[in-house]
Amino acid sequence: MKLSVNGVDHDVEASSDMPLLWVLRDLVGLTGTKYGCGIAQCGACTVLVDGVPMKACITPASSMSGRKITTIEGLSADASHPVQKAWAELDVVQCGYCQSGQIMAAAALLQVVNNPDDAQIDAAMAGNLCRCGTYPRIRAAIHRAAEIGKSGDTP
Ligand code: FES
Ligand code: FES
Repeated sequence: MKLSVNGVDHDVEASSDMPLLWVLRDLVGLTGTKYGCGIAQCGACTVLVDGVPMKACITPASSMSGRKITTIEGLSADASHPVQKAWAELDVVQCGYCQSGQIMAAAALLQVVNNPDDAQIDAAMAGNLCRCGTYPRIRAAIHRAAEIGKSGDTP
């Protein structure tokens, strides 16, 4: 099957029900997207499909024909996306395991709502769990990313 990932076309040999997560990690070699629960409950595997956050662990790769997939590796070439800048500035990460999913969900939110309030952030991020409890820093960093985006300090 053919997949467009981070602007690059890949031709991969996978069964029709293979989850996108395993295609990305094992066949395409992009391991930034993580496996947490495998049942769409934690958000560790969040990627963007045509700009919309999706849980790659339950998404059959065969459903991705003609769609544009973005993983954490494709968010920017040099960690210069406003969300990545804000994450670094506020030192959001603890163990890091959930964070690529968090960042992708936050980036998707800011595409739709350029200056979200706390309630909008909490609603958009509800499907992304963090066992380290970094939620207050995630929320603060999304506010900061919105400021960075507004100020034109974007890639
Ligand atoms: S691994 Fe996909 S939501 Fe948990
Ligand atoms: S930073 Fe450890 S699970 Fe979120």
